[in-house]
Amino acid sequence: MNLHLLHTQDPLKTVADCLVVGIEQEAPLSGTAKLVDMASGGLIRRILAAKDFLGIEGTSHMLHEVQGVTPKRVMLLGLGKKSADISSTQRLKHCKKALSALGSALKASPLTQIIIAATELATTSEGAQWTLTHGLVTLERAMNEYPALRQTSKKALPPKTFHWRTSKAIHGDRAQACLVRGAAMAFGMEKMLLVANHPANICTPAAFASFAEAFVKELIKHDKKTPLSINVLKPDQLKKLGMHSFLGVAKGSDEPARLVEIVYRGSEWATEAVVRGQSKKSAQSPVVLVGKGVTFDSGGISLKPGAEMDHMKWDMCGAASVLGTLLACAKMRLPIDVVGITPMCENMPSGKASKPSDVVRTMSGLTVENLNTDAEGRLILCDALTYAQKNYQARALIDVATLTGACVIALGDIRMGLYSNNDELGLLLKNAGDQALDPAWPMPTDDEYLEGMKSNFADIANISGRSGGSVTAAKFLSKFINKETLWAHLDIAGVAYVGNGKEKGATGRPMALLMQYLMGIAK
Ligand code: BES
Ligand code: MN
Ligand code: ZN
Repeated sequence: MNLHLLHTQDPLKTVADCLVVGIEQEAPLSGTAKLVDMASGGLIRRILAAKDFLGIEGTSHMLHEVQGVTPKRVMLLGLGKKSADISSTQRLKHCKKALSALGSALKASPLTQIIIAATELATTSEGAQWTLTHGLVTLERAMNEYPALRQTSKKALPPKTFHWRTSKAIHGDRAQACLVRGAAMAFGMEKMLLVANHPANICTPAAFASFAEAFVKELIKHDKKTPLSINVLKPDQLKKLGMHSFLGVAKGSDEPARLVEIVYRGSEWATEAVVRGQSKKSAQSPVVLVGKGVTFDSGGISLKPGAEMDHMKWDMCGAASVLGTLLACAKMRLPIDVVGITPMCENMPSGKASKPSDVVRTMSGLTVENLNTDAEGRLILCDALTYAQKNYQARALIDVATLTGACVIALGDIRMGLYSNNDELGLLLKNAGDQALDPAWPMPTDDEYLEGMKSNFADIANISGRSGGSVTAAKFLSKFINKETLWAHLDIAGVAYVGNGKEKGATGRPMALLMQYLMGIAK
């Protein structure tokens, strides 16, 4: 990760490798770009007039040794159109695209001191906050690179320092706070991306747990008072708890299952801790996040086809995003309690694997007929959700899962599926996603979707027909939610990763949505 600071000096007179200025499409120059233009005798205006650069979002143009400017380079960064008929969301999307492009451009460059004067142009307080928090994360995400497992790997570049110039729409202290939050989020996301992108032979269930333990330890070492703890449950403990549905998925693999439980008692910064299993439902009760952690989903005996089966190493992105979120909360000292619970296993075929027609007893007592071993996510989540409700009086219980291919068909890779048994919680999450540009879309929850999962041999089957697959999966989970629990489910199958091409990798979603929601309720 890189260093991020506020910049309040004169950018034209500061020694730096690069000064990044924002250029709006078809608009007069403003902010630092205007100052650079004046100092250089109209250089930027001549470039624009010659149409060498248009200011289109996602484009950039590097200038060297610009007259009257101390930084060695000036980069023109396109911010797109800013006309009145463009919504504030559209403007943020342009800003996001620009910062993403900036990250890609700087990723392999040796420049270390960079002044960003492109985001000083945010005109609203929301826009300025977005830039310093989510914009910073966007920039870091674009520069993120998996430490490729090669014999001759590239030499790691030294970390960069970004000096952010902020808009007048935000006060200095507020700006600093937003920047700290952004850096904490980027820290959590960096860990998330690392574990999520590891191949399945490296990120096994046990390895995921070890990574999580190491990250927690590192954080505590850095900041000794951090109220963060981690507990890893092994198969014999899971068996004692009655998690036969979860273990039924795990048993086809040689890799033993794990359940990772991370507790962040952020309210300790203010008041006494939430006590496990004893806390009363109150403003102090934790938000509990549950993440699907299938480190490889072959489908099991209901084996998946070979094409793109490699994508199923990302079937633990729900778990990884929950881990990243907990780390980010702790890093930014968010003053609320948050718990992360991630059931981790592989879904593999073998002589020991669960078979279609098997019936298992879940931790809740309900029995499930396993009609398709590839519908394994819900089988591990149901036990984790029961565990969560037995141990915590959650103010909200939110699960995150790459749950169904049907959700990819329904919503593509733009919006994730959002389900909730509570309209207020659903709306909070929907708005958080929109604000963070990590959007979700509300999906139906009618009980009629349960019809197809009726079984002659158990309380419920794990699949129904092909139609409405994302909804029926959500409804399956709802059978394990107590009436009084405020619950939401995010189906992130379409948005969690990019499977092909040169952008291949975990996206970091839905960390931004979750953090926006948590920061919102921490106010
Ligand atoms: N992990 C998959 C869902 C998935 C599909 C995630 C594509 C990301 C991209 C899940 O375990 C699964 O296999 N679901 C089945 C359910 C079906 C058997 C009812 C599916 O979607 O086909
Ligand atoms: Mn599956
Ligand atoms: Zn799966």
